Amino acid sequence: MFLSKLVLSPQQHRRTLVTLLSLQNQLSCASCRSWCPKPSQNMRFMTTKDNSASANSMSSSSTMKTESYHDHSIHQYSAHRQCQHLLEAVLQRMSQRLQFQDADDDQRRHIVDLGSADGSNSMLTLKWAVWTLQQHIPQGTLPPLQVTFEEHPVSNEQFLRATLASHDDWFHRNNIRYSVLMKSFYEPLFDPDSVDLFMSYICLHWLDTTDPPLEGTSDTPGWKLLQQGPEQQNPSPDFTFMNEATTPSHLQDHYRELAQRHLAKFLAFRARELKPGGEMVLLMVSQPNDFVTPRTPKDDDNQQYSVLTLAMHRCIQRGLIRPQVLERTLLPYYLRTKQDVRDALALAASIQITSDDAAARDRPGALLALVGDVETYNVRLGTDGGEQSNEIQGASDMFWSIHAKAVQSAGATETELEAVRRETESVFHELFSSGDGVNVTYLACVIRRRTREAWSSGKSEKANQ
Ligand SMILES: C[S@@+](CC[C@H](N)C(=O)[O-])C[C@H]1O[C@@H](n2cnc3c(N)ncnc32)[C@H](O)[C@@H]1O
Repeated sequence: MFLSKLVLSPQQHRRTLVTLLSLQNQLSCASCRSWCPKPSQNMRFMTTKDNSASANSMSSSSTMKTESYHDHSIHQYSAHRQCQHLLEAVLQRMSQRLQFQDADDDQRRHIVDLGSADGSNSMLTLKWAVWTLQQHIPQGTLPPLQVTFEEHPVSNEQFLRATLASHDDWFHRNNIRYSVLMKSFYEPLFDPDSVDLFMSYICLHWLDTTDPPLEGTSDTPGWKLLQQGPEQQNPSPDFTFMNEATTPSHLQDHYRELAQRHLAKFLAFRARELKPGGEMVLLMVSQPNDFVTPRTPKDDDNQQYSVLTLAMHRCIQRGLIRPQVLERTLLPYYLRTKQDVRDALALAASIQITSDDAAARDRPGALLALVGDVETYNVRLGTDGGEQSNEIQGASDMFWSIHAKAVQSAGATETELEAVRRETESVFHELFSSGDGVNVTYLACVIRRRTREAWSSGKSEKANQ
């Protein structure tokens, strides 16, 4: 409670949280997801073959500016906090499973954080998770743990490693080994049956940019041309987000289908890698979302545009950027609804995965089940410091650290990029106040790998044969 009354810079805020968490940890030590379009052919059969070469050709707009996200990611940490109850329940079940394992089984339990970015929010949540797991183990003795921090191959690996290294003492004290894996989470990542827990925070709304929706649309700017026909050369300048109110509805339908296929593919791969009974906690950005559909006054003509589209339109009007920069800008992320997640889970059950070495094909996604239901949380970014502070500036800086690369990838020069940054900042101050903040919805769920397929799914399959 008292934290919210302090006026802190993001860095001070982070240091305070880290201190509180490590203090908490020391104290404890002392006392002791109906829609089912036919997926495309290449989707139904996934291979576990390493396709990291394709990752290198991936558009860099699928990642963010890691270094500057480091300074601002704390603004999103309340989204992690709001779904702590889900993670706690997962850890409680994990501690129960540990009790059934042989005492001499000293194999390390494997926890994976997917999309770690600079590692700062990941470390806060990991420390909380380890502390919580320890509370649920009867003698408070943690099993040996292995933690993998996974991140997109074009992100800044050195930065992530430096953040993790600054926690080496904590890792050592808790007998935790860690490693970094720079690979897309839309690929196979681990051996079958090898992971106890996947955590993925604020990442899965980013789509797989190596999987173009149509031939000839391999870069994300090309995704704006979908279904407009080959004669149409210029994509629409009226949107930069897939879920923007001004995005043509036929494109929104395409993007929705794409988002479901990608999440289903992700789920099928992870299902194969989870140990039976293992679980994943997934948190992603959802809608409504003030970044994409700001609640602007009724008399504002621009109320339909996202903050980025509005800022770019204004830059074009003032001759600060070329129209083609806006035409080519598209954020390759999709804000799913609860039903989208349930539908993707159903689709994952139909995906067959083939291994290189074995003729065996299986549908690991059919083993997955939602634990409880998909939940949503509203986070008012930029309200932490009250009217006196400059928290809207913080929310704006964080927005820029996440979205700048998409403008850069659209071909903006450094001067154009700076013009868009400044205009985006002024749009933030115009549209939002620290009293109301910037409302962003996050969606979270827990998905478990069952030990065997649900009786009902086998039954309905037989009935369909
Ligand atoms: C908003 S950050 C969230 C970082 C961190 N988990 C947190 O909660 O603050 C999203 C991260 O997802 C990563 N990401 C996006 N697509 C990815 C992919 N296909 N594979 C791995 N990471 C990806 C981005 O590079 C970025 O670091």
